[in-house]
Amino acid sequence: MPLVTSKELLAKAKEEHFAIGAFNANNMEQVQAIVEVAQEERAPVILQVSQGAIRYAGLEYAAGLVKLAAASVDVPVVLHLDHGTSFEQNIQCLRAGFTSLMFDGSALPYEENVAITSRVCEIAHAVGIPVEAELGRVLQAKDASPEEVAAAMTDPEQAREFIARTGADSLAVAVGSVHAMRAQEAELDIERIEAIRARTGVPLVLHGSSGVREESIREAIAHGICKINVATYLNQAFVRGLREGLQKYPDEVDPRKFLALAKEYLKEAVREKIRLFGSAGKIGLAGWRSGPAQVRGARPRPAGAVEE
Ligand code: G3H
Ligand code: ZN
Repeated sequence: MPLVTSKELLAKAKEEHFAIGAFNANNMEQVQAIVEVAQEERAPVILQVSQGAIRYAGLEYAAGLVKLAAASVDVPVVLHLDHGTSFEQNIQCLRAGFTSLMFDGSALPYEENVAITSRVCEIAHAVGIPVEAELGRVLQAKDASPEEVAAAMTDPEQAREFIARTGADSLAVAVGSVHAMRAQEAELDIERIEAIRARTGVPLVLHGSSGVREESIREAIAHGICKINVATYLNQAFVRGLREGLQKYPDEVDPRKFLALAKEYLKEAVREKIRLFGSAGKIGLAGWRSGPAQVRGARPRPAGAVEE
């Protein structure tokens, strides 16, 4: 089916207390693996294009892969920009047909984050595309001490003001996770998640989920986390498959042999996450709810052209 926006999916997740997996992909096998599992598990899914993926594959190429993959299944698929770095990049993604954006101004002074997020929202909303923003900062595991992680956490009162001023549709929160951890050891600050949820009312997004304990993820979902980003855990599975393939078939010269195994390993990792997040089975066999409101073409359209 055509791509859908993240707006309705996240609203459903918020209402029904589950989370949608937002999986990073860099190549064809990864994109295919993610949508195949979403289809098998009857789960809505967000495929996100990171800054690394844009450097590796190119924006249009990455977007093209996701559009083709979405067209091959009958569960809803969102094409999302992950950690958008600038106003300009967000507009380029709108033009390329992304159905969900992110402006990450978390490293900027607060007022600058408010100003750019607001501008992105104004333009994206004019064509019916939702925007994720970030407040507080989800750091990188390799250069974050526990004190730095604590100091970078999202302030609930500031989050209330930020959402009111920017109109952002969802908020990435810093609540104890860090990016690119290789073991599931982090505990989230559930009280903080609850406080942000109560003050903002928008679906909350967990970044850096690869390093978070499963129980903490379940609790976070119960308290307002509706979208969960996963990258490192999936890369670990994919590379494990590649390594095993290379060992198992030392004389093989056809790369598809190794890539097929990597894809299978990745599929199992995606399945595990979709089940953990509670999104498996959320799409009935009849497909996504009928009606044009949830389904948008790959290219953004003027709001008036689409029923709300
Ligand atoms: O935006 C992407 C994520 O936050 C992924 O983080 O690599 O720790 O799973 P992760
Ligand atoms: Zn992230």
